[in-house]
Amino acid sequence: MKKHGDRVVRPLRVPATTLSIPRLMSPLASRSVISATERRERLKAVYEQAKTCTRCPLHQTRTTVVFGSGNADADLMFVGEAPGANEDKQGLPFVGQAGKLLSKLLTEIGLDRSDVFICNTVKCRPPNNRDPHPHEIESCNEYLRSQVELIQPTVICTLGNFSTKLLRGDTTGISRLHGQPEVRTIGARAIRLYPLYHPAAALYTPSTLEVLRADFHRIPDLLALGAPEQPEVEEEVPEPEEPLADAAPDLTAADEDLTAAPAPEPEPLQLGLF
Ligand code: URA
Repeated sequence: MKKHGDRVVRPLRVPATTLSIPRLMSPLASRSVISATERRERLKAVYEQAKTCTRCPLHQTRTTVVFGSGNADADLMFVGEAPGANEDKQGLPFVGQAGKLLSKLLTEIGLDRSDVFICNTVKCRPPNNRDPHPHEIESCNEYLRSQVELIQPTVICTLGNFSTKLLRGDTTGISRLHGQPEVRTIGARAIRLYPLYHPAAALYTPSTLEVLRADFHRIPDLLALGAPEQPEVEEEVPEPEEPLADAAPDLTAADEDLTAAPAPEPEPLQLGLF
């Protein structure tokens, strides 16, 4: 399920989404070519920002920020609602009963969790598993948008009402929308949005499980369509090059060891990136 490597990214003419909260580090800022490796590194940098986030009151009660996990170059992404108690403890999304069902459904269509990226509309657990509040979803939306822009999925499955309403920007409920793919633009990316029932809703209702399973089994056909046409982009204006003399570090005997190759950063455990 890996995509081809490098691709050209230019400044966008389309407005970048709906919310007017302060920008995180711009995920695709002014680089002409961005490789899968570079996007993965930038995703890790966004995760580093999210780890200490205090944008909404959920930070006061969380144990761990559940940023998301899986393949940082996935074609298929799932967006659930919010971490629950198990997720909050482990720092990984969908690790409880609903997560087990999600993994089972993935297996049925020949995929596993390392093929896809899984995250939620909010990255911190709402106390007592209450529904996330609108201002919490809005505060967190910048992280989700960065995830979409950096992972560049072809298909996003929204799981349940919260992510479906958020990514469609409309209040239509999941029971009317499930199983109906549509092309939507999220931030800088056009994707195939595919609303599904939330696995938790299917755990104890066999008829919902059957609908979810039937919808799920259509995912491979959707993936086979490939990425939808992307929003129009402007031609890139190359940045002027720095004169060499300015860019060269002024090394003295005291700081010569700065030239040594930096030790590789350990992979963040909670992120679970592939
Ligand atoms: N676990 C998650 O990570 N998200 C949900 O929406 C439900 C369970």
